[in-house]
Amino acid sequence: MAAYYFRTFPAKTDRMRHNKTNFLITTLLPLAIMCSLFSCGEKEEKIATNLAAANLIPQPVSITVDSSAFRLKGSAIIFVQGESEELLRIGQYFSDMLKSATGLNLPVKSTAEVPGKGNFYLVVLEERNVHGEEGYQLDIKEDLVTLYAGTPAGIFRGIQTIRQMLPINADKTDGPFILPTGTIQDKPTYSYRGAMLDVSRHFFQVEDIKRYIDFLAEYKMNAFHIHLSDDQGWRIEIKKWPNLTAHGGKTQVGGGKGGFYTQEQYADIVKYAQDRYITVVPEIDMPGHTNAALASYPELNCNGKAPELYTGTEVGFSTLCSSKEITYQFIDDVITELAALTPGPFIHIGGDESHATKKEDYLPFVNRVKGIVEKHGKTMIGWDETAQADLNNQSVVQLWANEDFAKMAVAKGAQLIMSPAKKAYMDMQYDSTTKLGLHWAAYIEVDSAYLWDPATYMPGVGKDNVLGIEAPLWSETVTNLDEIEYMVFPRLLGYAEIGWTPVEKRNWEAYKVRLGKQAGRLRADGIDYYESKLVPWEEGAVKN
Ligand code: ACM
Repeated sequence: MAAYYFRTFPAKTDRMRHNKTNFLITTLLPLAIMCSLFSCGEKEEKIATNLAAANLIPQPVSITVDSSAFRLKGSAIIFVQGESEELLRIGQYFSDMLKSATGLNLPVKSTAEVPGKGNFYLVVLEERNVHGEEGYQLDIKEDLVTLYAGTPAGIFRGIQTIRQMLPINADKTDGPFILPTGTIQDKPTYSYRGAMLDVSRHFFQVEDIKRYIDFLAEYKMNAFHIHLSDDQGWRIEIKKWPNLTAHGGKTQVGGGKGGFYTQEQYADIVKYAQDRYITVVPEIDMPGHTNAALASYPELNCNGKAPELYTGTEVGFSTLCSSKEITYQFIDDVITELAALTPGPFIHIGGDESHATKKEDYLPFVNRVKGIVEKHGKTMIGWDETAQADLNNQSVVQLWANEDFAKMAVAKGAQLIMSPAKKAYMDMQYDSTTKLGLHWAAYIEVDSAYLWDPATYMPGVGKDNVLGIEAPLWSETVTNLDEIEYMVFPRLLGYAEIGWTPVEKRNWEAYKVRLGKQAGRLRADGIDYYESKLVPWEEGAVKN
């Protein structure tokens, strides 16, 4: 099981095989990186012992430098404290990660005692919960690397920190590999740190979704919002309403083949995310953005007639018939099945751009759907238009466009997920030369994506009103994984840092240098990122 769930970057091998720069990536680049991180001479040894110089995104809360080094050798063992299956599984994930970085194949073992020299030690201790649900403390000493947390999730997040200190695609060798000594104390600023993927405008296979989830995991994000239905396609099997996918899943923007996830595939995605301590937030957009459902079942239309499937990119023309009882039976059936498949606390009901819904029908519709979601034990999330409904201090609203709605939500005690389109939409073009994407909200260069703070973004909305941050990727123009990567990278790293790192530790000038040093790692992972001129990309980074 562990091997299955903890494969990292499943697409990497194939992608690398086709990469003309394979030789540079696998041979020259690792040597250069290893010499900068590890002992290739006196000068480099000095660098390698400075933990504060480790190139980490998101930047940790605190780093204490001890100016020495832990030498990782092939004889090392990953010890986990106690017999916990969950920690053993995380230990195996860590071992797989170390193997792909160093070639070392370290065993994972339980222990009741502090292990001896040269090993890793993963420990969950109640008292380490001072760092919260996802916080951790990483102690790197000359003789032992200990990762403490109050929860397994914290251990998982801490492992991502170690990942960024490992060599990149090193040749197989016995090491030693060096980690600088010191202590990192770390915990997230916001409890919700996510990204969305629109699988309706264009459909993406399960393997691509898993890679997207890996991207989030590597930068300590914890929420994957999947936009499962829209005018162009219905993407999740609902057993009681099979035509939703049989007909409504048949196509996509531009008229291509489309597709959908069976319930087993969706459950597999959820489990893959869960093993990375990432919550899946499924969205069924309604009452607008519903042409695919309306095309599949004529009874959901007020005139009883099914429209054609839609493959364009307009919005605001479709609506479920809010005055028909069958509509609420339909929604209840969909939410029943979706809630049963979704262990996370949230169901997202969209609610945006319902221009074809009668104004007087919109709020009663949202209120009734909220009741259905809550009946199934879930919390409703809606786009900012839903702030007009009957909300309370348990409600969650996602800001995308209308700040007055966001303020209205806060006045009702609701919490906000901050996704302002002009800052956080990853489908927005970087600048006027970007070939993919749109620019109706803004051009979002890498600095603009980074330079904002959810707690001060809007007057009247403070940190206490903000559950977190989410960066959505709409897929009108995005058709495959390479295109996803180009729009997501490198902006995702900035969103991850905004969500995790305290505002006083965030600084564009310092961040852009750390980002530039990620170049080799991104390229070695086969990621097609946007090479912004604003970022001092690390010299020697392999060019496409
Ligand atoms: C949205 O971009 N319509 C939420």
